Amino acid sequence: MIDDIRHIQDRALAGLSAVTTLDDLAALERDLLGKTAELSGFKKVMGTLDHDARREVGAALNAAREAISEAVAQRRSELEVVAAVARAESERLDLTEVRAGGDAGHLHLVTQTIEELEDVFVGLGFSVAEGPEVEDDWHNFTALNFGAFHPARDMQDTFFVGLGGPREVVMRTHTSPVQIRVMENQRPPIYSVMPGRVYRNEATDATHLAVFHQLECLVVDRGITFGHLAGTIDMFTKAYFGPGWTSRLRPSYFPFTEPSAEFDIQRPDGTWLELGGCGMVHPNVLSNCGIDPEEYSGFAFGFGLDRLAATRHGVTDLRELASTDIRFLEQF
Ligand code: DAH
Repeated sequence: MIDDIRHIQDRALAGLSAVTTLDDLAALERDLLGKTAELSGFKKVMGTLDHDARREVGAALNAAREAISEAVAQRRSELEVVAAVARAESERLDLTEVRAGGDAGHLHLVTQTIEELEDVFVGLGFSVAEGPEVEDDWHNFTALNFGAFHPARDMQDTFFVGLGGPREVVMRTHTSPVQIRVMENQRPPIYSVMPGRVYRNEATDATHLAVFHQLECLVVDRGITFGHLAGTIDMFTKAYFGPGWTSRLRPSYFPFTEPSAEFDIQRPDGTWLELGGCGMVHPNVLSNCGIDPEEYSGFAFGFGLDRLAATRHGVTDLRELASTDIRFLEQF
């Protein structure tokens, strides 16, 4: 009888490994372990056995049922994986769009602009740095000399992230926090540009985007002057737009620079485009990063890349830059 039980168990296990669908598995489970299963038949016979034989057969029956249950569970989890993979495959959406002519596409205009400007600055000996788009208050504001209740915080319409304490984590409102990260990690001389995506909680229109790009520039060295700042801005204006373009500075205010200015660039037709902010790095900002303002001075500027690219390429609505319309994108 024991041999019969072992034999049934072996056959059951072989049957289970041959099953290929969850439905077939459920049916086989009923056949193997249900009331009418072959193994259940032995229970009736057991009553006719003597004490020792009953114990032995009982133990063999339990062992067989256990082995079969385990094999069922194991096979079920295998088949569930197979079924999930098959479902994912059958529900997969083909999102690739085949374009006639085998055109593989190209980098987005804003990415091209970033790369072109990086090339200009790398050619001058600058390095390129990046920072996180989700920032803490220290880097986005406090280290940049925005006091806790400084009204300039309100100039930057901030998206707050629901992490940490209230208003502690933000989507960076500008690339200036990367200046702080660079100065925290590197000793002067620093010659660095920092491109990246920034976020402002404001309505979008033809000249404003809620998600846009800036390029930040930071120089910290001995003897850096406002003249170096103005010269660098004029140099990159000409390098990017061409020799007919010039720039000018207008007095302004930013907490992290003193003195501060805004800069505009002049098109060959004489009209001006407001591009960004700049100034001499505020001594408090240098101290916040462990750099001695008595020994070093620096300048910084930052401006919108989307606007810059749109101006050069005659794009009149910045929202186009965020579109996926291939007819727009393939023009650049
Ligand atoms: N971060 C400023 C903004 O987005 C722009 C700016 C102003 C950057 C002055 C600078 C700077 O580096 O020195 O409004």
